[in-house]
Amino acid sequence: MSAIAPALAPALEARLVATADERLARYLELLRIPSISALSQHAPDCRRTAAWISAELTRIGFEHVEVQAGVERPVVYADWLHASGAPTVLVYCHYDVQPIDPIELWETAPFEPFVRDGRMIGRGSADDKGQIAMHLDAAEAFFATRGRLPLNLRIVFEGEEESSSVTLEQWLPANRERLAADAVVISDTGFFEGNHPALTMSLRGLAYMQIDVVGSPIDLHSGGYGGMVENPANALARIIASLKDADGVVQVPGFYDEVVELTPAQRAAIAALPFDEAAYLARVGIRALAGEAGYTPLERKGARPTLDVNGLWGGFQGEGSKTIIPAHAHAKVSCRLVADQDPQVIFERVRDHVLAIAPAGVTVEVRPLGFGRPTMTSEDNPVAQAGLRALRAAFGVEPLRIREGGSIPVAALFASILEVPVVLLGFANPDSNAHAPNESMVLDNYERGIRAICALWDDLGRSTAGGAGA
Ligand code: BES
Ligand code: MN
Ligand code: MN
Repeated sequence: MSAIAPALAPALEARLVATADERLARYLELLRIPSISALSQHAPDCRRTAAWISAELTRIGFEHVEVQAGVERPVVYADWLHASGAPTVLVYCHYDVQPIDPIELWETAPFEPFVRDGRMIGRGSADDKGQIAMHLDAAEAFFATRGRLPLNLRIVFEGEEESSSVTLEQWLPANRERLAADAVVISDTGFFEGNHPALTMSLRGLAYMQIDVVGSPIDLHSGGYGGMVENPANALARIIASLKDADGVVQVPGFYDEVVELTPAQRAAIAALPFDEAAYLARVGIRALAGEAGYTPLERKGARPTLDVNGLWGGFQGEGSKTIIPAHAHAKVSCRLVADQDPQVIFERVRDHVLAIAPAGVTVEVRPLGFGRPTMTSEDNPVAQAGLRALRAAFGVEPLRIREGGSIPVAALFASILEVPVVLLGFANPDSNAHAPNESMVLDNYERGIRAICALWDDLGRSTAGGAGA
């Protein structure tokens, strides 16, 4: 490979070029371990992934490399703190991945990654193991060429992000004292539509819940009983239908009470993003956009809350017909949240509303399945500014500032527990198929992204400690 980012220190560029094949081989190796956090039978694979990463961190030159003991999906910690006078950055990524179903839609086995048409294809290639590999490659280039890093780094890689970060949420407050840093850099986001480089300025929060509707203890003959008893599936359908009106406005009382409205300047900034609706429809494979009336599509994704059914089941699903009134029916529902909504409060309001409208004749239960707070960041800190410069240098275009609709619950935790700026610098292409079959990472994003990380560390290394966090 020839040099792709002339702005980068020549020795680093030369090292990255010289190690291109072995770096790719290690990326492939990391993707081959099926570290699915949602499925307990993969806990040993998660531990194996943590061990693999810790061995790499040690080999590269990090110190105090630790794999958390006694848990199924351990936090991996490492640091290198010898750049006296330079700032300290904590880098966060996650090594766990989403389940692989529907497996029949994968063109190849999800954990037998391979390169095709300039992309790495495989589960975790973009979300988020690929971005771990990028950070490892960037650090390796510094240690190999200079024997040191230009700034102080702490590494925190977790194995449960896709399952609500339960382990890290306990680990973080317990390790607060020794995590002193000027900023947190999270690499678990991506670029704007059209694969345009971007810094993410906000993420939505999440309140995830399950609704269970139960009627008779067993299925009933739909002729013998239909018309006399409530049908749990019909009841659930009515409940769900009543949660939003035809304009996409959530009907739960109080749902929008704490929502911070966009300012005219913020709306103008969103409207200025180069969003091509026709290209988006084609990429996603749908005919029209939908959502809350009164807001543009990007406003709805970035700055408005949602309520969506994620799964819906109950009754007979086999071939042919079976005439029953099902004994029970269920739904998984997610609310994406924005500032200043509180996930617990929103859960309670949805739950209370669902219980209030539940018909007589069935028992309805609503239980929480995971919460995360929304995150707002600012570009008014030196690490965000340096991140923008690094993207500009490595990708050769002016980076956008975007609002993402997804959630990284620990981002808000980092901000509140460590009380430092959180910078969301991620590199996934928007068509990465994260959480879906045939996940892929564009290798140009990967390679230039490594250069951007190198440029960021070098840039911050030239500033002084207090100056990076303010
Ligand atoms: N990397 C994503 C978060 C993300 C999604 C960032 C889209 C930017 C755009 C992360 O791995 C993720 O999937 N988070 C979950 C959180 C949940 C499991 C608590 C999400 O958003 O559903
Ligand atoms: Mn992720
Ligand atoms: Mn994810």
